[in-house]
Amino acid sequence: MAFYSTVVAAIDAYTGLSPAAFFTILALMFGVYRLVSSLFVYPDDAAAEKTSPPPAPPAMQPFVPPEPVQMGDITLEELKAYDGSDPNKPLLMAIKGQVYDVSMGRLFYGPGGPYAFFAGKETSRALALMSFDPSDINSNLEDLSEAELEVLHDWEEKFKEKYVKVGQIVPESSKVGDDNESSDQIKGNQDE
Ligand code: HEM
Repeated sequence: MAFYSTVVAAIDAYTGLSPAAFFTILALMFGVYRLVSSLFVYPDDAAAEKTSPPPAPPAMQPFVPPEPVQMGDITLEELKAYDGSDPNKPLLMAIKGQVYDVSMGRLFYGPGGPYAFFAGKETSRALALMSFDPSDINSNLEDLSEAELEVLHDWEEKFKEKYVKVGQIVPESSKVGDDNESSDQIKGNQDE
């Protein structure tokens, strides 16, 4: 009892409050403390999080295009299907009648790429002239200068080195009747 009266006297001396008011305020302060501290991470929990880091995100899988498939003889019309519009087909591009699988260079020739307009086409003239003009994206080399042919040759060397040759362009007619003789003749001309 003496302890109780000492406590009451101390509360009164230090705060000027009645014991009931003092304990009510104390309870309210504790409630506020619990409420505010619940808004923050408890130090122990934060330490636990540090020791068990969140699982690493799945590693980015590098894009690996499928192995180039040999197409053999292919017409310009058939080549168009390999312009990147079908993601299941390789990206093909022809230079001097030779067809290259440029799937590895999809950032250049794939949809949205800076040279996407070359995919699925015979690009010799455009490369020789260093032209982006759609009317130059064809195989016509007739009126080109020596210097322009040299530029084309350099492109051809680059493509031979970088990409796999998967076929050769043949005229429409040579495929319709499967006329081997004319097909061979075209191949011979292009291999020169
Ligand atoms: C403003 C002019 C041009 C600039 C700044 C430019 C720049 C580039 C660059 C930085 C590359 C990447 C080279 C690499 O990493 O191997 C590239 C590739 C290429 N450029 Fe251009 N270029 C220009 C004009 C042209 C023109 C006029 C053509 C042909 C008509 C052309 C055809 C190509 C082709 C076909 C590739 C891809 C070669 C491959 O498959 O490796 N470029 N260009």
